Parts: sequence; C-alpha cells; structure tokens
Amino acid sequence: MHVHTIATAFADRFGPAPEITVRAPGRINLIGEHTDYNAGYVLPAAIDKAIWLSAGRRTDGQFAFYAADLDEFFLSENSETVFQTTHTWANYLLGVISEARRDGRLIGGLNVAFGGDVPLGAGLSSSAALESGTLFAINELYQLGLPKMEIVRLAQRGENNFVGMKCGIMDMFASVMGRADSVVRLDCRSLDFEYFPFHAPGYSLVLFDSGVKHSLVDSEYNTRRQECEAGVAALRAHHRPTSSSSDEFSSLRDVSPELLFRHRDALDPVVFRRCKFVVEEIARVEAACLALQNSDFVQFGRLMFQCHDGLNREYEVCVPETNFLVEQARANPAVSGSRQMGGGFGGCTINLVKTEALDAFSETTAVAYRQFFGLDLNIYPVRLTNGTEVV
Ligand code: GLA
Repeated sequence: MHVHTIATAFADRFGPAPEITVRAPGRINLIGEHTDYNAGYVLPAAIDKAIWLSAGRRTDGQFAFYAADLDEFFLSENSETVFQTTHTWANYLLGVISEARRDGRLIGGLNVAFGGDVPLGAGLSSSAALESGTLFAINELYQLGLPKMEIVRLAQRGENNFVGMKCGIMDMFASVMGRADSVVRLDCRSLDFEYFPFHAPGYSLVLFDSGVKHSLVDSEYNTRRQECEAGVAALRAHHRPTSSSSDEFSSLRDVSPELLFRHRDALDPVVFRRCKFVVEEIARVEAACLALQNSDFVQFGRLMFQCHDGLNREYEVCVPETNFLVEQARANPAVSGSRQMGGGFGGCTINLVKTEALDAFSETTAVAYRQFFGLDLNIYPVRLTNGTEVV
C-alpha cells in the first residue's frame, strides 16, 4: 500500500483530498525481549513495512475511520467522551485521542483512512504503528505541539488504558524514533537512547512468520508482568541492603544475577525462572551492543540464540512452531542467530543470516515447515528505516 493508494481511498470515502498523510512503520527487536516493562534495555528498529494514514479535520466533532485493508468503516458519536467500540482496530485510534484529551488537548473531529503492509498478528507492532500514525496526524492538524517522546508516551497510554494491553514502551518508541540503517538502544527506565548503525556487510536480517497467533497472548503477557513484579516484591522483602550497595530497587533492572541467585530460595520456582531470564536478557542487550560496535556478528548471533533459549525454557512464551524455526536456523552454518521475536506465543522469528545463503536458507526452511506443520511460511527480508513521518 502506498501513499497515493491511501490518499485516494481517503478521497473516495470522504470527498476532499486528505490534509495530511503519515507513514508509520512496524518494528523489529534485535534483542531485549520482555525487558521494557522491567525498566531494562531493548534494541529495536523501525522497518520497511508500514501503515500509511491519511487524515483531515471534520467540523461536526465526530470521528470517521476507514480501514482500507479490511474495508471496514467506523463512525463515532459526537460526544466529548470517547468510548470503546467493537471495531477492535478503531480502539487504537480512539485510545490515543482519548488519552490526549485527558491531558487537556483540544482535538476536534477527524476523518482517517489507513492501510499498509505490516502483517497483522505477526508481532511487528501494527497497533503501535497505527497509534503513532494517528498521533502524528492529530499533532499536525490540531497543532498540539507534541514532541516525539510525548507521542510515544501517549501511544503507550492509549494501549494500556483504553485498549487494555499492558504493553511496555518499546513498540511505539521504535515506530516513532527509528532511524534508517540503525538500531536504537533504549533505556526503558531513563528513556535515554542511543542509535547504533547496523552495518553488517555480508549479512541480512530476515523474518519468518510462523503464522501462529495464540489467543492467550494478552493474558499470558499480563501474567508474565505480574510474575516479574512478584519477583521484585519477594526480593525486596528478603534483601537487607548494605551500606555499600545501591540498596533500594524497584524493578528487575536493579537486580544483578548474583543478587537473584542469592535469594533464590525466597522465590517461587516459576517466578525465579522468569526473573532469571529478564535479568540475563538485560545484560545480553549490553553485550549485543558491544558486539555490534566490534562488528562481531558471530557473537551477536550467539546472544540471539541464548535469548531464544531463555524465552523458551525460562520465560515459557515459545510455541512448537517458532522452536522448530529456530532449530532449523541453529542447524544451518550460514545463520549467526535466530530467535522468536516480540511478546511471544507465535509471531515471527528474526534471523541473522549470511546474505549469500539467504535464499537457500529461506527455501529449505519453508519446505521443512510445510512438511512438519502443513503451514506456509511467510518470509520477510527487512530493511531498517526512519520512524513515523509526514509524507
Ligand atoms: C510486546 C509488547 C512490548 C514488549 C514485547 C516483549 O511486543 O508490546 O512492549 O514487552 O512484547 O519484549
């Protein structure tokens, strides 16, 4: 879907041409999974799969949204309060409008048409892209003057408070702040971030979409969050700070592997495994950035495999399909690293592969996947792009 297609869809539906069109990309995450809501580090990037969103103001105060790919239309009541709707997708747009209004921002009526090529339910954050795109559009049209990081925060609040998914900040951050040919390390506690050029001559990044989307993903995700919080609470109850340590901790970011193991007996075994994964994963992001700076893609890939093993055995968010895909990768000497990406229970694996072997690897994996599971494998080579922008 291109900018002209969506602008035409807008004009067909609403009459006048759009006042603004925005490109809001999906995201990948190289490493740092389930660390964002534990105040740790993540290493995402925006990609060349995006949602395009055309918008214009309405004078009657209503919100009219057209989802071009689904050919579905939503029209709100004309009221000050924004309510949830059974059009699930419309809640992503309404959520950010509702949150912005709660901050006292004056937002009038809006026409929106959107569509794109971010596959739905594949863990590439189409919802974060839709939220970022909507906020970029209303920021311009209603001259809200929101800085980018405020857009990121509002998008997360929309998802947390209106849609009801207790996600962290990574997805919207990547969709808004991405930079071409770079990954970005975000410190999810301070929100400081640093771009790392992703120059990997001879290597390619490719996503394998397992096509599996577990219906429990949201509830399991929220359970994992609670388990991490339970771990922090138990550690706080048992840990006697010494004058030499920095003492108080409020998240797993503040917990070293050494401290975690010292208090192992104080934790429920499941909670311990969850915490162990997170604490080690936070350290892996730092190690991965070092590997990137040293152009050491063998080490980088090793860390990706370690991440997957932790997601599978300790965090327990993998499924047979993604495990199979990662095992195919592990058995292939042309693959540096591979792991399940995103919240879990299916979605895509991300693979770092020697470019010369990319086609053969993709093909043999697709054949094996079909033989084993009877499923087609969607394959997406990715390029790293700028974040959300007005086009
Ligand atoms: C989902 C969430 C993110 C993050 C990942 C796991 O994508 O939306 O905030 O927690 O899962 O790393």
